[in-house]
Amino acid sequence: MIQRLHPLLASLRLPARRQVTAPRSLSGARRVLLQPELRIFFPLREPDGTKRVRITSRRKRPGGRGVGGGGQKEGTMMELRIQLIPTGEIILSPGKNGENYCHGCKVVASDGVRAMMESALTARDRVGVQDFVLLENFTSEAAFIENLRKRFKENLIYTYIGSVLVSVNPYKDLEIYNKNHMQRYRGVNFYEVSPHIYAVGDNSYRSMRTERKDQCILISGESGAGKTEASKKILQYYAVTCPASEQVQTVKDRLLQSNPVLEAFGNAKTLRNDNSSRFGKYMDIQFDFKGAPVGGHIINYLLEKSRVVHQNHGERNFHIFYQLIEGGEEDLLRGLGLERNPQQYQYLVKGNCPKVSSINDRTDWKTVRKALTVIGFDEDEVEELLNIIASVLHLGNVQYGGEDGVACITSDTQIKYLARLLGVNGTVLTEALTHKKIIAKGEELMSPLNLEQASSARDALSKAVYGRTFTWLVNKINASLTYTDDSCKHYSVIGLLDIYGFEVFQHNSFEQFCINYCNEKLQQLFIELTLKSEQEEYEAEGITWEPVQYFNNKIICDLVEEKFKGIISILDEECLRPGDASDLTFLEKLEDTVGGHPHFVTHKLADTKTRKVMSREEFRLLHYAGEVNYNVNGFLDKNNDLLFRNLKEVMCMSENKILNQCFNREELSDKKRPETAATQFKASLAKLMEILMSKEPSYVRCMKPNDSKQAGRFDEVLIRHQVKYLGLMENLRVRRAGFAYRRRYELFLQRYKSLCPDTWPSWQGKASDGVATLVKHLGYKPEEYKLGRSKIFIRFPKTLFATEEGLETRKHGLATKLQAGWRGYRQKSKYQKLRSSAVAVQAWWRGILARRRARRRRQAADTIRRFVKGFIHRHRERCPENEYFLDYVRYSFLMNLRRNLPKNVLDKSWPTPPAALSEASELLRKLCMQNMVWSYCKKINSEWKHQMEQKMVASELFKDKKDNYPQSVSKLFVNTRLNGEDINPKVVQALGSEKMKYAVPVTKYDRKGYKARPRQLLLTANSAVIVEEAKLKQRIEYATLRGVSVSSLSDGLFVLHVPGGDNKQKGDVVLQSDHVIETLTKIAICSDKINNININQGSITFTSGQGKEGTIDFTPGSELLVAKAKNGHLSVTAPRLNSR
Ligand SMILES: Nc1ncnc2c1ncn2[C@@H]1O[C@H](COP(=O)(O)OP(=O)(O)OP(=O)(O)O)[C@@H](O)[C@H]1O
Ligand SMILES: [Mg+2]
Repeated sequence: MIQRLHPLLASLRLPARRQVTAPRSLSGARRVLLQPELRIFFPLREPDGTKRVRITSRRKRPGGRGVGGGGQKEGTMMELRIQLIPTGEIILSPGKNGENYCHGCKVVASDGVRAMMESALTARDRVGVQDFVLLENFTSEAAFIENLRKRFKENLIYTYIGSVLVSVNPYKDLEIYNKNHMQRYRGVNFYEVSPHIYAVGDNSYRSMRTERKDQCILISGESGAGKTEASKKILQYYAVTCPASEQVQTVKDRLLQSNPVLEAFGNAKTLRNDNSSRFGKYMDIQFDFKGAPVGGHIINYLLEKSRVVHQNHGERNFHIFYQLIEGGEEDLLRGLGLERNPQQYQYLVKGNCPKVSSINDRTDWKTVRKALTVIGFDEDEVEELLNIIASVLHLGNVQYGGEDGVACITSDTQIKYLARLLGVNGTVLTEALTHKKIIAKGEELMSPLNLEQASSARDALSKAVYGRTFTWLVNKINASLTYTDDSCKHYSVIGLLDIYGFEVFQHNSFEQFCINYCNEKLQQLFIELTLKSEQEEYEAEGITWEPVQYFNNKIICDLVEEKFKGIISILDEECLRPGDASDLTFLEKLEDTVGGHPHFVTHKLADTKTRKVMSREEFRLLHYAGEVNYNVNGFLDKNNDLLFRNLKEVMCMSENKILNQCFNREELSDKKRPETAATQFKASLAKLMEILMSKEPSYVRCMKPNDSKQAGRFDEVLIRHQVKYLGLMENLRVRRAGFAYRRRYELFLQRYKSLCPDTWPSWQGKASDGVATLVKHLGYKPEEYKLGRSKIFIRFPKTLFATEEGLETRKHGLATKLQAGWRGYRQKSKYQKLRSSAVAVQAWWRGILARRRARRRRQAADTIRRFVKGFIHRHRERCPENEYFLDYVRYSFLMNLRRNLPKNVLDKSWPTPPAALSEASELLRKLCMQNMVWSYCKKINSEWKHQMEQKMVASELFKDKKDNYPQSVSKLFVNTRLNGEDINPKVVQALGSEKMKYAVPVTKYDRKGYKARPRQLLLTANSAVIVEEAKLKQRIEYATLRGVSVSSLSDGLFVLHVPGGDNKQKGDVVLQSDHVIETLTKIAICSDKINNININQGSITFTSGQGKEGTIDFTPGSELLVAKAKNGHLSVTAPRLNSR
């Protein structure tokens, strides 16, 4: 199936079982075990740029958890899509759900698991080794360069020598600096990922955090090798990956934005580099205990001020001039009196190179303007800064003319602009630019300058103004980066050193001398720390060691800086010497003093061959990085760096606030001669070395692949030269034979003692024995470490990283234990506090309760005592002894009364009052009754009133007179017992308009035979009518009604007596009603004959018509019985309902 093996991977058999670790930052990443049995083939590149990889497993892997999932069968083939990225890593591109699939089986690792190309999956013969230490032929310079070349061709610009990073300038943008890359390097051990500048940054950061030691990253290399770019990449890495709060974000922004500003003012295009740093920069980034960048500080070193007034052919002045002219808005330029044409300015035409293809001044201008705002420049400050920049350009255009060697200014407009922009008096400035103040015999004289002197005075002013403004700018940036949080005064620091690189031009002057001297010092530091002291340390520690020979450049450093004998001392001496000291006398002095030095040559001292390439005004130094011919012209002036006193005075009067700060009046009164430029530089470098020595260094060695700034061109000669002078081969040899890490026993034990039960929590014996026990416990192999006299040496970083990882894991356990202990302690003390508080509260509360109880007991005893006393004296007049008792009795009666008041008018109960209250009690009882009656009456409605009235009449008539009266009391009287439908309509018709008041069914007994007949008794307003169905049988006018008789028994019989003589009347009517009380009450009320109701005992006599009489006998019996008796009477037996 596989048509073609990728030539580079065809031979890939992984050397040994390796572990490739996915970075922690990638979600779900896991370890992938790559087995030696796997073969990986790269066929052709896919159209989308990815590659399809096929992995075959040659051996059965029972249940393995490697690539391709567990238990792949022999010969099983898998297919992965991969992407090759320029660092040489492989990224497995994720499947739909973030997993990789191959022929249906899931690949163990998910989302972007990286296999290390160089260490695991790659063909070394294509991309070389990522660490020179892995080079088989490590002593061969050719192999070294070949490895560099291979990697460079594959865009792998970074390679390690142990922990030193070698970087080759690619001169093109590689896509290896994005956020994904940063995340990939974050928190990952050095050896786990391919070499990168981020790895160096991250390593320093982690060392700073874990070991709490300040770090510094030294970036060195010649001009154009990529130092500034590397330092910016590191800064960006910290800005993105470090934790950040809102305040920190501002600091991060300012740190980042300080670069474009400083580059604009301090960088320029040179023949070596289009963005060459013309000043040295050491930047401290300050981190708080959480690892967040909280501040920064920049130290600047010797700016190449001469560039302001002169540039070599093909070079430019500082970027800011071109940016302002190209990018400045029309109004701005008008205000500054500038034209949008650099050719108009003398200071910008010297190099004849106003435009550079790789630089866009217009966009850079915008960046700088924005950066100034971010850093915290206000509009006024920016205006004043630009005034200064413009004034330098105008100064350059100040033209001199004149006769008899006396200079005068021919361009008035420039002076006008200068006076305004610099904020000085134009006339005073004009005089200062053409005269020199001489103090002779205590008198001040103005001596006119000749043309040459005037021009150099003007240039000196330009350089001074620009140089001091640059220093002001750095101070201003420092102020904005100052760490302001007082709460945390301790911070850790990572220093970044990006200084001008070693450079050689056709004409080299004082500036190149200083720059190259600086590089010489840095190389010395590197040698000191990586080659010399390391080897010395092995010997001192008694580690068997074969010394590695290297070139020590101390001899050159001494040649330059030695006291009295060094070049700087000689130069200073010539500068200070009275008399006719000149650049040439300086050269002669050099020849006299250091003429015999092996690294120093002049035309006079040189052999004929060398003389051909040297002028008589030059001296040659054999630097570590190559030979450089320095032309002595201008050395004295530049070293003196003098500005005429009157020019200084003019600047001190400036109204421009920046210049005012730059030119200090105290300087005028200071009689002491200022230190020369070279001596100042030497001192500042010595201080820098001290700073760097006090920190843990990391190194980045930058190299340039060619001199033509071309991408992809690898100039072997140039590279070999750099490899040589950078001492990389020696570095490799020491690294290869040496140890990656060393620590004093005490420190090592202190850090890792928790990893071994014997050394934890403390080791009692000697620290070296403790370390021996510890490493034995950790399983270090003998070749991995050596025990020296006072230190342990660990050969491979991975051994240390493994230990670090162990510590990291252990820390969690320890932290948990500490937390548990602390929490337990906290909880216990909290509990004890709570408990004692509870006990105190309880005691207090119990006290309160007890006091309350005692008080109540006392009160109770008092009350009882008073009560008893009162009881004894209760019959006496009211006196103090019985007062309480009497009051109590009254009170309790009233309270008792309140609780037991009668419920209704019929309730006659009333508590018995004490004697003293009997009268009041009686009054109260009456009041109470009246009240109840009154409220009862209020509740009665008219219907009930009517009912009551009838009941009253009934009571009057029958109470205690008729036996069945009590039974009737509870039954309500109804309005009628017969409704409309019960009464025949004819009867109603017959009654006519007479209104019926009451109707009741009754039984009528015949007068003669006492036959019972059902009838209806209707009561109208005027008469009682007896009805038999539809017939009005008898009408008895009330007026004629003589009376009504009824028995005293419980029967319902009654007799309506009518007048006897009236023939129309049929006689008295004997009726019986089931509701006799009601019926008779109604009759009595309707007929208004209440007094005519007679209640008879025994018998009732009635008239039965035509003068005859009848009798009704009433006898009490067991039940009601109405019958005609034998004696012709009507006999009524009625039961007794109420015994009397
Ligand atoms: N990692 C990189 N990727 C892409 N281009 C780079 C890289 N490093 C450097 N360069 C290119 O090389 C140029 C020079 O780099 P840089 O300015 O960093 O050199 P330098 O070492 O600081 O030189 P000098 O000593 O003159 O300041 C940059 O402007 C850039 O174009
Ligand atoms: Mg630089």
